Amino acid sequence: MSLNAARQEKIIVESNAEDLAIRAAALFYEALLTSDKPAFSVALSGGSTPKRMFGKLAAAPLKDDVPWRQVHLFWGDERCVPPDDKDSNYGMTRQTLLDHIDIPDSNIHRIIGENESAAEARRYAAVLKSQLPMTVAGIPVFDLLFLGLGSDGHTASVFPDSDALDNTSDICLVASHPESGQQRVSLSLPVINNARMVIFLVSGKSKQERIAEILGDREGHQRYPAARVQPTHGRLVWLLDQDAAEKLPVP
Ligand code: 6PG
Repeated sequence: MSLNAARQEKIIVESNAEDLAIRAAALFYEALLTSDKPAFSVALSGGSTPKRMFGKLAAAPLKDDVPWRQVHLFWGDERCVPPDDKDSNYGMTRQTLLDHIDIPDSNIHRIIGENESAAEARRYAAVLKSQLPMTVAGIPVFDLLFLGLGSDGHTASVFPDSDALDNTSDICLVASHPESGQQRVSLSLPVINNARMVIFLVSGKSKQERIAEILGDREGHQRYPAARVQPTHGRLVWLLDQDAAEKLPVP
């Protein structure tokens, strides 16, 4: 574990994906228990990395220990597909977590992927404004926000060379995956950077070059959306496995 003073963040390296998932679930639980609020808002990441963490939260002891009635779940981004589509982040979360825990349906605030994307971005922004009581500079504040890292340096669905990088006005935005063209609805960087705590979950060799560039502050790393994640008042944790961290300079 090291604290990168220059970036005011914590870097935690676990041996493998399994230990990363265990640590991620523990950080979730710890953040929840230390919260002084009756409702705890969490934005979940999508893709494949969070599946293992969801599995730890869906199994004993955490499935029974976590006060799920206090937890409100949101998504950092969603693919514009219905829940039963293999690409649905909500659908994946339902299978790996939601179907295994006692959480009220009213605490689950999915992005409705089957809606028209621009209308859904507007609707979800309104949901965040109504469900997240705390704001800073008029922007909703999540208690905890998980992010993944794409091998191209994207995070949530903020992709490199996209308008989203400079979007400082919207809470939610519509994006298109640069390769597949798949439409997404995503939180914007201002909302991400307004969270009280942001945890990146990054696993695997395919991420090691981006990790080395971003966390090593290499020349030009700011072009990657993930490098723009710099919480304005919250904590930032990069939770990596050894494969993703392999090219990091030894602290
Ligand atoms: C998504 C995610 C995206 C993801 C990264 C990493 O909807 O795809 O939110 O930002 O976190 O692409 O994905 P993996 O965990 O599958 O590598």
